[in-house]
Amino acid sequence: MTDTATATFTSVGVIGLGTMGAGIAEVFARNGYSVIGVEVSDAAVQRGREHLEHSTGRAVKREKMTQEAADELLGRITLTTEMEDLADADLVVEAVVESLEVKKSIFRRLDGIVRPDAVLATNTSSLSVTEISTANSSPGRVVGVHFFNPAPVQNLVEIIRTVVTEPDVLADVVTLLRDLGKNPVVCGDKAGFIANTLLFGYLNHAVAMYEGKYASREDIDAAMRFGCGYPMGPLALLDLIGLDTAYEILDTMYKQGRDRLHAPAPILKQYVTAGLLGRKSGRGFYTYEAPDSPVVV
Ligand code: NAI
Repeated sequence: MTDTATATFTSVGVIGLGTMGAGIAEVFARNGYSVIGVEVSDAAVQRGREHLEHSTGRAVKREKMTQEAADELLGRITLTTEMEDLADADLVVEAVVESLEVKKSIFRRLDGIVRPDAVLATNTSSLSVTEISTANSSPGRVVGVHFFNPAPVQNLVEIIRTVVTEPDVLADVVTLLRDLGKNPVVCGDKAGFIANTLLFGYLNHAVAMYEGKYASREDIDAAMRFGCGYPMGPLALLDLIGLDTAYEILDTMYKQGRDRLHAPAPILKQYVTAGLLGRKSGRGFYTYEAPDSPVVV
């Protein structure tokens, strides 16, 4: 253990080493924690390892980290296909696919593996943390920790407390994330949490404005960039997120909260059905020469 690992948490388990899990494992290892990363198969372990090597390699190339520090960081991460290897973890962060059934089965299995005082966290972005937590016999020790993508770069982490999360568990997780150099914010268990609830209400409103021919896409985007200081306008941002992903997020929030702000603007569904998904398909609100290329309109 290095001096950065806190007294409460020393050994951290991460389940699922995809886009988010690999990034989360890197954040902990960078701060001196020993990390056990669990994946489903040897091939998935290999993909997770490549993810980690690619990300740390980029940090070295950009001179954000020395090669020596990157090697040390990778040396703190043990990858395995055995969930039983989490027996000594103080904290387990689950970052597997966004499926309630898969997540619940993991929290159920953890029961017989981790110590009773271990803290369990899920990185879900839209599922009910409460529902996931009830699969475990200690739901009071379960929180949501919603890292943003890419986890090593984005500073915000939303911590979701359920009605039964123990106050000391919540306080320990907040302290831990601050120690990791993140900006934790705490909220209740409602789809969208803080950032997506506010952001997607705003994005949806911009789509409705465009759909109603109130203003052009360029003028809507320009108003928010030059008038409000946003780095991107809402329609360009939606193209970046992907209109299919945006639709799903809005739909989930609307079905859960019934807030009209989140009722997906009809044109959004029409674009998705027509295959206009934004940058990834070459066309959304704007047209792109190739995915990720500048706007060609
Ligand atoms: P991903 O598909 O890139 O990675 C999921 C990983 O979980 C895969 O490598 C898969 O092999 C592994 N996995 C599946 N079942 C498993 C099991 N039973 N045991 C161990 N590993 C298992 O998904 P991604 O994007 O990393 O998302 C993970 C979670 O993070 C989801 O809940 C998602 O909603 C959330 N999230 C995603 C964000 C994003 O921008 N991609 C942002 C914030 C949260």
